[in-house]
Amino acid sequence: MAVITEIEDLKRLYKRRVPKMFYDYAESGSWTEQTFRDNSSDFDLIRLRQRIARDMAGRSTTSQMVGQDVSMPVALAPVGLTGMQSADGEIKAARAAERFGVPYTLSTMSICSIEDVAEHTQKPFWFQVYTLKDDDFMKRLFARAKDAGCSTLVITVDLQIMGQRHKDIKNGLSAPPKLTPSSIVNMMTKVPWGLEMLGTKRRSFGNIVGHAKGVSDPGSLASWTAEAFDPSLNWERIKQFRSWWDGPVILKGILDADDAKEAANVGADAIVVSNHGGRQLDGALSSIRMLPQIIDAVGDKIEVHLDSGIRSGQDVLKALAMGAKGTMIGRAYVYGLGAMGQAGVTQALEVIHKELELSMALCGERNVADLSRDNLLIPKGFQGEWE
Ligand code: GLV
Repeated sequence: MAVITEIEDLKRLYKRRVPKMFYDYAESGSWTEQTFRDNSSDFDLIRLRQRIARDMAGRSTTSQMVGQDVSMPVALAPVGLTGMQSADGEIKAARAAERFGVPYTLSTMSICSIEDVAEHTQKPFWFQVYTLKDDDFMKRLFARAKDAGCSTLVITVDLQIMGQRHKDIKNGLSAPPKLTPSSIVNMMTKVPWGLEMLGTKRRSFGNIVGHAKGVSDPGSLASWTAEAFDPSLNWERIKQFRSWWDGPVILKGILDADDAKEAANVGADAIVVSNHGGRQLDGALSSIRMLPQIIDAVGDKIEVHLDSGIRSGQDVLKALAMGAKGTMIGRAYVYGLGAMGQAGVTQALEVIHKELELSMALCGERNVADLSRDNLLIPKGFQGEWE
């Protein structure tokens, strides 16, 4: 049994275990993947300020995200097709998050449905929606999330049109996977994954198939987004969605201070500074680079979270010290899930928690709430001078 000490260990195991089509889906950015790469490498530019002889006993990472107690401010981000990374993957990830005391966000493009996840968990989870044209479908989705006890709605606002990821097109990505000579050859090397997958009935988009009208090819994410998503989305429409949900609403996918102000105006409770893990606008700046100016613009009005690029507890620490109230991880837990199911998600959370907690101590801080820009060494011009 491999010793897991960092997220990269889980990624290696994940790559071996899961069919290429689904590994590539998770591990892609759009077009040249510049933004995808920058998301992580920009974290490395920020350094931490070592402090000594400060009382480091009795440390705590507990905090709150949108009023909810969390064991550390790290939520599991919505990830499409999670149930293709491991059979019943959404249920496994939700259970791991629940036990760890962090929020789990179920994607609309999940394999297990809202009802499946609710049936297999005890505590409320978060639910993510896209901005679709079909009001009936949207309203039913909101109602289903309410009935399932979901506490918080996460509205993805940066994907009304989908960025192109070359590998998905080349691989013919679909759920369930299309059987082509190359996908069959690849899947023959992934026997444990395949056997588990044969043992579940959940192999297509559980929230959509049988629920959305007129979907001609529900197996393909790209074709469904092209058909059903609303290219004319505007702030009025986002405001309308906000009014349909009477609990906390998080707008995910804000990368600009002006948009952040709009988000505060429409009554969102929080935003996630995000470029969708580098999967949408290739060439956009990284989330961590954009965070300071967004915090400066709206940090006193709305809770600001960050995703895109987090692969360690040190990255979480940097985002929090920069002013984020919370973070989301996507790939970092998917690696764990693909590598070893629910236990792998728990391992990913443990790795990140330990890194966060120890690094915080070595910075001379005992509580995540006390982290500030004072703990960071931010290179001059980090935000860049762009015209
Ligand atoms: C969906 O949101 C994706 O990024 O694939």
